[in-house]
Amino acid sequence: MNIVMIGAGYVGLVSGACFAEIGHTVTCIDTDEGKIATLRQGGIPIFEPGLDALAARGVAAGRLSFATDLAAHVPLADVVFIAVGTPARRGDGHADLTFVGEAAREIARHVSGFTVIVTKSTVPVGTGDWVERLVAQERPDADIAVASNPEFLREGAAIDDFLRPDRIVAGSDDARARAVIEDVYRPITDRGAPLLFTGRRTSELVKYAANAFLALKITYINEVASLCEKVEADVRDVAYGIGLDHRIGADFLSAGPGYGGSCFPKDTLALMKTAQDHDSPMRLVEMCVSVNDARKRAMARKVMALFGGSIHGMTVAVLGLTFKADTDDMRDSPAIAIVQALGDAGAKVRAYDPQGMAEARRLIPDIAYADTAYDAVRGAAACVIVTDWAEFRRLDLKVLARLMSGPGLIDLRNIFDDEEVAAAGLVRVGTGMPQPLPLDRHRQAAE
Ligand code: UDX
Repeated sequence: MNIVMIGAGYVGLVSGACFAEIGHTVTCIDTDEGKIATLRQGGIPIFEPGLDALAARGVAAGRLSFATDLAAHVPLADVVFIAVGTPARRGDGHADLTFVGEAAREIARHVSGFTVIVTKSTVPVGTGDWVERLVAQERPDADIAVASNPEFLREGAAIDDFLRPDRIVAGSDDARARAVIEDVYRPITDRGAPLLFTGRRTSELVKYAANAFLALKITYINEVASLCEKVEADVRDVAYGIGLDHRIGADFLSAGPGYGGSCFPKDTLALMKTAQDHDSPMRLVEMCVSVNDARKRAMARKVMALFGGSIHGMTVAVLGLTFKADTDDMRDSPAIAIVQALGDAGAKVRAYDPQGMAEARRLIPDIAYADTAYDAVRGAAACVIVTDWAEFRRLDLKVLARLMSGPGLIDLRNIFDDEEVAAAGLVRVGTGMPQPLPLDRHRQAAE
């Protein structure tokens, strides 16, 4: 199949490289000339494990190319995927469909022969109908079908998620579109992945309903974690205990500083708005959004509680700035709110992240940065672990303790063992487990 992918961002690049990998001919199109130039020189503008090798293989096989102008490519395409950004609109939280609309009109001007236009971007219910109308206005004679095919890619594991998905979801009422989409995904469905084909609006909603459900699951275990801290229970065992029930499932029950990223915050907000607009408010989702927002800032209070209420003038190291490990993405990262709250409390923050430093320097310019985790903790009374990078798990806690001026280890992702922490002489504040006494009382209790 000849595929055109509009948008060489995260979703477009991963999907484009994966479609090339399974045998299609793919052109990724982006209006950003710098990005296309980088891609043509073999560079990958985002950090995603394995993507550079996959893209290089596609290019070498002559199946993957990059361009800025869709006019030459859309007429030859069997399928055109729209994978442009749909950020939350400033002010009202609705998904901003400006780029989707521009892409649809531009595609309409150049289609030739029967072409399936597929929205891969996360778009509100009814967007497919709107895209169809836009194309019809622009080119009433165009022979097209519009389908929805949401992506379910986790950053850091996106290639595996694409090539070995739990399921593929697509929707259209057009039988020709269905046949084309079945052909596009055949190499993957042949290996056992189910393809669920639904109506277009249903397919659009599956994406939001899935992400909001996962956001609820995390927020739920985070609230259980807060209760564990009060009643001297351990959320890791609670999560394990409930996750063994297959109706609940063990995944997505790691308590932490709250969810962030490019999807959950934006998609929960957009779903909430759609539900309100249709006079069918989703109060659980509304609650989830506000509980998660409050949680991010509240994490700084754990540092303050350990130091008896005040951290004014104290140096606090923050390890991990991206919204999770294995990505360079800082969007809606809990670290942003945590660093801000630590600063508001008068702490001097020194931060380090294995991949997110460039973006972090731009977003949080007024703190100090270090080149390594050990440099970040030098002279700090407390070290806050915000993301569970493997590199942090491998830190030698004894070395860490020697470099620090105080013993506070605020392990928000529960990455260290109790024994390891105790052997290093550090005092760990975990998530969802009994909390240590404030340090002065802790010392008295030890004496
Ligand atoms: C998510 C969905 O998983 C994916 O299917 C969708 O298409 C896009 O959004 P992503 O945002 O890359 O993917 O990250 P994910 O791994 O799902 O994590 C999202 C957030 O939840 C992160 O901040 C992560 O740290 C947090 N999280 C996840 C937890 O706090 N606990 C968990 O158990 C799982």
